[in-house]
Amino acid sequence: MPITCCIFDAYGTLFDVAAAARDLSATGRFPALSENWPALAEHWRIKQLSYSWLRAVSGDHADFWQVTGEALDWSLEATGLDGDAEMRAALMALYHELASFPEVPEMLATLKGRGQRLGILSNGSPAMLEGAVGSAGIGDLLEAVLSVESVGVFKPARAVYDLVGQAYGVPKQEVLFVSSNGWDAAAGAAYGFTTAWVNRKGEPLDRLPGRPHHILSDLATLPDLEVF
Ligand code: LAC
Repeated sequence: MPITCCIFDAYGTLFDVAAAARDLSATGRFPALSENWPALAEHWRIKQLSYSWLRAVSGDHADFWQVTGEALDWSLEATGLDGDAEMRAALMALYHELASFPEVPEMLATLKGRGQRLGILSNGSPAMLEGAVGSAGIGDLLEAVLSVESVGVFKPARAVYDLVGQAYGVPKQEVLFVSSNGWDAAAGAAYGFTTAWVNRKGEPLDRLPGRPHHILSDLATLPDLEVF
């Protein structure tokens, strides 16, 4: 069956999650960030995902904006950067308007030009996704921005991947699911999507049920995949 829909994970895949800490450090407004922003960004991402999984397992859902803030608070304390409310607010504001990776707009335009139906499937809350999509200027290229908030549980719950078929009305076999998160690509493959893992950091393959069908180092070469 030909691929008709390309569905993208958002954070880490289309949007650069390290950009908030990196860009705030670059302004020089908070000198304490200059040495610690890489550790802060790393802790922030790992805790954000861990909290999403723990909340999914325990059934104690809160939206991704709250989870992102709670993960930031833990990470600020872990890196000795806690206690500065202005810095916390600035980091969250930047996260709300994360930049996309540079290759994203052209890659999306190429696929859309070929008639592919494009969209996002993300843990993000609708408001934070709207902020990032708007600041990246990619809204016109996307047919749907699907948030886990409509099912109230985070990835990799299968109910989340079901949202694609419900929104696009196509069988799984017509969907290429693209994620930079190895666990998300694995889960999408186990679900039945054709998947591409964008392995930006050269990480080992996750040992999970489901194997990504394609592995890329960034999104620039996605339109070259033989699935199209
Ligand atoms: C998302 C997270 C997993 O956008 O990055 O769903």
